[in-house]
Amino acid sequence: MCGIVGYVGPRQAQEVLISSLRRLEYRGYDSAGIAITDNGRIEVRKSAGKLQRLDDLLEARPVAGTTGIGHTRWATHGVPNDVNAHPHVDASGEFVLVHNGIIENFLPLKEELLEEGHEFQSDTDTEVLVHLVADEYEGDLIEAVRRAIGRARGAYALVVMTSREPGRIVAARMVSPLVVGFGDGETFLASDIPAILPYTRSVLVVSDGEMVDITADGATVQTIGGEIVDRAPMEVTWDAGRAEKDGYPHFMLKEIYEQPGVIEETLRGRLQPDGSVVLEGVDLPDGFAAGLEKIWITACGTAYHAGLVGRDVLEKTLRIPVEIDYAHELRYRDPLIRPGTLTIAISQSGETADTLAAGRLASRLGSRLLALTNVVGSTLSRDATDVLYTRAGPEIAVASTKAYTAMLIGAYLLALQFGLERRTVGSPRAAELAGELRALPEKATRALGMDADIAKIAGRIVGVDDIYFIGRGLDYAVATEGSLKLKEISYMHSEAMPAGELKHGTLALITEGTPVVVVLTQSHLYDKTISGLQEVKARGAKVVAVAYEDDAEVAKYADHVLRIPRTADFLSPVLSIIPLQLLAYHVAKELGHDIDMPRNLAKSVTVE
Ligand code: F6R
Repeated sequence: MCGIVGYVGPRQAQEVLISSLRRLEYRGYDSAGIAITDNGRIEVRKSAGKLQRLDDLLEARPVAGTTGIGHTRWATHGVPNDVNAHPHVDASGEFVLVHNGIIENFLPLKEELLEEGHEFQSDTDTEVLVHLVADEYEGDLIEAVRRAIGRARGAYALVVMTSREPGRIVAARMVSPLVVGFGDGETFLASDIPAILPYTRSVLVVSDGEMVDITADGATVQTIGGEIVDRAPMEVTWDAGRAEKDGYPHFMLKEIYEQPGVIEETLRGRLQPDGSVVLEGVDLPDGFAAGLEKIWITACGTAYHAGLVGRDVLEKTLRIPVEIDYAHELRYRDPLIRPGTLTIAISQSGETADTLAAGRLASRLGSRLLALTNVVGSTLSRDATDVLYTRAGPEIAVASTKAYTAMLIGAYLLALQFGLERRTVGSPRAAELAGELRALPEKATRALGMDADIAKIAGRIVGVDDIYFIGRGLDYAVATEGSLKLKEISYMHSEAMPAGELKHGTLALITEGTPVVVVLTQSHLYDKTISGLQEVKARGAKVVAVAYEDDAEVAKYADHVLRIPRTADFLSPVLSIIPLQLLAYHVAKELGHDIDMPRNLAKSVTVE
């Protein structure tokens, strides 16, 4: 999704903007650009393609100046090309703007502006904004921006500069994320914190409906309505180094390997030796968990797949119905969410537009909203009454891995805490599960030991047209995530389904050599899944199984077995996903794809 940066201070803006944009690359983009004001002129450099192309442009024609804005664009309105890339300038060349999100009423606004004689260069919705700001300008940029956004509808963040007021930048946030960073005589703006961490740790998260007025001396925040906001910046304590590759060839591989540490971190201080759980940020009123009648889970993509595990785990532990729906479906399906229920919205970024909307809908309908998210201060965390942070650290690769695992751990912690409160989990069982949870980091490290074998199997999968992932119960939930990982970075057609569903149609597609990956860890479903496996074997499928290391049976049916350490079946998703993440990684690597930034995808989907 688009990334925004801004800088005012003593340094040459070009360097700061490009280095901050690099840290936003993970969000996914198809073009990039910067604008810098110098000596009363605005200079823009922008280009379709990766940041390297912008770098080349800047090398040929550098831009001097110490106030600037920058952008990585992920196309929504208008194809990715040089003209549609941001920043956009008005006809006078005196106003320049970058924008993340969507202006929903841009067509009527554009028609109105065209009638007034404005000329447009691009097909973007963004360009209307810069024309509006220029039209509304009467000597004070913040007032012009306020009036301009009063005419626009949508979910966005925007950053504007004018050559008439050097050294000043104005930004506004309506839903899409925006942070301000404070340095010594310099001020930064960005879509998220890692972008500016090399420069400052003093950060203020801009809230929905707020505007910021920035100079080198700092920033003032006010609501769009004009009320001054007095909020102190926070000190970021995590390390910028965690957002670097640390010698791994790709962020995705680094993040896969970080999982043992992430599991440990997510459990740290929360799991007591007797199995009781202390979750800071989750503070349900007395009797709430005991009286709970239903839980809703909502999320998108990988977070939804973590929710599938959470659904089964919570339902089994709490003995109440747990319903899960994609956030983009839930928000429009007029759901019967009642007061007294709990809605768990899961989102790595905490900024996914649909997940935010579904969470807000649940809150409006009287449900208590609990956020399971990785980003401290994210919009979701602020919308929710309760927040459980996953502590996975910044996840840079577009394909989510460690954040998924951390979400699973979050779901187990919630299940344990609520189960104890509801007395559906007794203390001995809780202590047993706590012991198993604590053993997971070491087991995850062992599961990573299969990397080299998986690389060999990946070589045999490359080049096939279709691949299927099957499993039952929690194994099915893991199959969905394994399949998504493969398709998003290998671009191969991949489908996941419950093993029992195969014979209701998909079996027709299994022919000689079709690869089928089966996840096989749930003892109570083992025989049933083996039957499904035999069905595909009989049609010539090449079977890769993920099974426990002590499973003596599976090798009779599978062509390759990826073995994981044994754990409680309930917890197996944390381990069984690891070989599937590695499989996806190695297939994509063989194919030579851009693993960390797959085509067409964005890390954070902040538009609908
Ligand atoms: C896939 C992936 C996406 C995200 C989805 C939700 O690897 O990363 O499917 O899981 O876009 O994002 P968050 O969790 O930020 O709400």
